[in-house]
Amino acid sequence: MNLEEIIKDTIIQNQAPIGFDEFMQLSLYYPKLGYYRSGSEKFGEKGDFITAPETSDLFGFCLAKQCAEVLSPDASILEFGAGSGVLAAQILFELGRLKKLPEHYYILELSAELKHRQQQTIANVLPELLDRVVWLDELPRGFCGVIIANEVLDAMPAKRIIQQKECFYELGVGLSQAGFDWQIKGAKLSKDDYALPPLMSEGYVTEINQQATAWIDSLYNAVDDALILLIDYGMHRDEYFHPQRKDGTLRCYHHHQASDNPFVNIGEQDITTSVNFSDVTDQASSTGFNVIGYATQAMFLLSLGIDEYLLSETDENKRITLAQQVKQLILPSAMGESFKVLALNTTQQVKLTGFKEQDLTHKL
Ligand SMILES: C[S@@+](CC[C@H](N)C(=O)[O-])C[C@H]1O[C@@H](n2cnc3c(N)ncnc32)[C@H](O)[C@@H]1O
Repeated sequence: MNLEEIIKDTIIQNQAPIGFDEFMQLSLYYPKLGYYRSGSEKFGEKGDFITAPETSDLFGFCLAKQCAEVLSPDASILEFGAGSGVLAAQILFELGRLKKLPEHYYILELSAELKHRQQQTIANVLPELLDRVVWLDELPRGFCGVIIANEVLDAMPAKRIIQQKECFYELGVGLSQAGFDWQIKGAKLSKDDYALPPLMSEGYVTEINQQATAWIDSLYNAVDDALILLIDYGMHRDEYFHPQRKDGTLRCYHHHQASDNPFVNIGEQDITTSVNFSDVTDQASSTGFNVIGYATQAMFLLSLGIDEYLLSETDENKRITLAQQVKQLILPSAMGESFKVLALNTTQQVKLTGFKEQDLTHKL
């Protein structure tokens, strides 16, 4: 059976629509066939989308600078969903230059194919540091150091909900003649069970990501003394549940074409939803984390001196290339404002350089 048939079979067995979170889980993570479990090229020009570390080494260098500020000599870094391994290589390279190499650079990766690719990337670029990189299959216990997740929360399966007659219902996935279709799943939702938005217009659709908030809980149980840096496209609650955002934040990416149709190219396209950073922060605070900074990606990178990295390049041709990359990372029309950085920690409130120029925590 191919993945589409497997999902159809799951709906038939269920005798009712499945949640969109289950559809997204199967489409992205079904063993060997899901988008993130198959061998297809995903990142970069030949793939489907380009992430910040794929755009420029300076992204990883700035993150390394932030790590260096808090890393004690026996602490480590843990990266979730490390993509092609390029961010790990950038961070290790820059921490080596700053003489602040971590004891270990752990990577928790769900995909065997990506793990292999990450090993190749680091072996090619920094063979002398490969033995510091350790791949994990599950969360560690008592972790001390810095945890990084770039574009990981948006890849976690989310529920879709729809407003009908002044109530919210779960919008599930059922079968239609053409394939799949959006269908109401179950009874009206209660505010006791879901962080529902205020009432909007009839037919308003949005997303709720319970897996992302549950992941925050599991993270708290895994750490002893840690700084967590979550980087993703997303926004605070008022913007997330803006009346004009009436079709939600679901996006699919296939060969650099964006669409809002998850029912095509199954297993061959990325599916994402934006991160509701207020929900993440609420969960983090109630779990026990301190929220120590929230800024746009642009202001975070500028606070860490991305412009200084650029100006220190002496080769003019390379500087021109780097300038193009920096624009991509910081311009509002590119990734600068739609991406945010949220920092959490477990010990006392600290002021991080990354939030020197901007801290929007009050908006969350
Ligand atoms: C859009 S990719 C980002 C890859 C990389 N961080 C980058 O910036 O290039 C999303 C990644 O998150 C991973 N992911 C999703 N949920 C995860 C989880 N619970 N633990 C670890 N990785 C996860 C996916 O497997 C996928 O590799």
